[in-house]
Amino acid sequence: MSRVESGRSLTRIAVVGAGSIGREHVRRIVGSSSCELASITDSTESTAALADDLGVTHYASLAELLANDRPDGVVIATPNQLHVEHATACIEAGLPILLEKPVADSAARAEQLLAVAEAAGAVVLTGHHRTHSPHVRVAVEAVRSGLLGQVVGVTGTALFCKPDDYFAQAWRREPGGGPILLNLIHEVHSLRMLCGEIVAVEAVTANQARGFAVEDTAAIILVFASGALGTFLLSDSAGSGRSWEQTSGENPHYASYPDEDCYHVAGTLGSLSVPTMRVSRIADPVARSWFEPMERSTLEVVPADPLALQLEHFGAVVRGEVEPLCTLRDGVMNVRIVEAIHESAATGRRIELGLVP
Ligand SMILES: NC(=O)c1ccc[n+]([C@@H]2O[C@H](COP(=O)([O-])OP(=O)(O)OC[C@H]3O[C@@H](n4cnc5c(N)ncnc54)[C@H](O)[C@@H]3O)[C@@H](O)[C@H]2O)c1
Repeated sequence: MSRVESGRSLTRIAVVGAGSIGREHVRRIVGSSSCELASITDSTESTAALADDLGVTHYASLAELLANDRPDGVVIATPNQLHVEHATACIEAGLPILLEKPVADSAARAEQLLAVAEAAGAVVLTGHHRTHSPHVRVAVEAVRSGLLGQVVGVTGTALFCKPDDYFAQAWRREPGGGPILLNLIHEVHSLRMLCGEIVAVEAVTANQARGFAVEDTAAIILVFASGALGTFLLSDSAGSGRSWEQTSGENPHYASYPDEDCYHVAGTLGSLSVPTMRVSRIADPVARSWFEPMERSTLEVVPADPLALQLEHFGAVVRGEVEPLCTLRDGVMNVRIVEAIHESAATGRRIELGLVP
């Protein structure tokens, strides 16, 4: 039964997979005024202790949870390889889900899941939490409002330095363990939010910084459906803070460089740097020219924790008040694009992306 607080019942959310991100979800649910933690599912002993501390039921498997309880919604934060299996089980049980990214460990499996979810009319929010970032939302609103005119291009960076001990695990030194598959998917989603659908990609990779079989650096070209173009530079071996986490300050675990940007969106009438939110705008659209000085301003953002905002949104989705802002279809497209970038780097070919079936 749901607990009632201030006259309304709390939305009961179960968390499946209580590793690093699962515990972040648990923390936000416990701190929420609209949701309550229904249970925690994970096979580890430390999770049983956590559930005990929090006074909620612990389950060792999703099957056990589904056999014993009917939460209002389920957060799936298990390893990538289990996403399709766990999401399918919740969909079959008729439960709304918040599914962590990537929605599957391959584009083919992601599309299978999409078919299952759409046939069932399932309610799925994909866990690209930057969807809820106040910086991203203000930037998207600015672009959509026409402030920049017609978008001609975007340039982005995810330049950061993973510590050497991160690579102690052998799989992180091998193809598939690098920043294209592990880190780029968030950037792809943000760039799609800012500039629309991506229809083709090209990429080149290098591994000279660390010398492992896997890439440490990638340069990527993006073609948007609108005709806009994008470039993106990714490296996990760079002495640079030009990454989302380090510039936005949204994740306190990382060192912060709030005066640096990681995205620059350029339109026919102006440009926006994110997350400093500095705008340059052509004052006279008729006489526009690089000889004329542009007007400078800064868009206001009220910072907030995107994971907490995502949870509140999930609660509203579960209660049927709103539609998911980041759909399963978005999650599938992001996996397809990252896979295409990987394929382009491996083959040296430009990869055209069709629409999600
Ligand atoms: N949104 C984000 O920014 C973000 C950040 C980190 C991770 N993630 C995603 O979240 C997922 C989990 O990543 P993580 O870093 O927390 O991994 P993790 O390894 O720290 O945690 C995974 C947890 O799942 C548990 N688990 C494994 N098999 C299980 C099963 N059959 N049933 C229940 N629990 C099981 C493990 O015991 C572990 O506690 C991944 O898909 C990852 O891509 C998203």
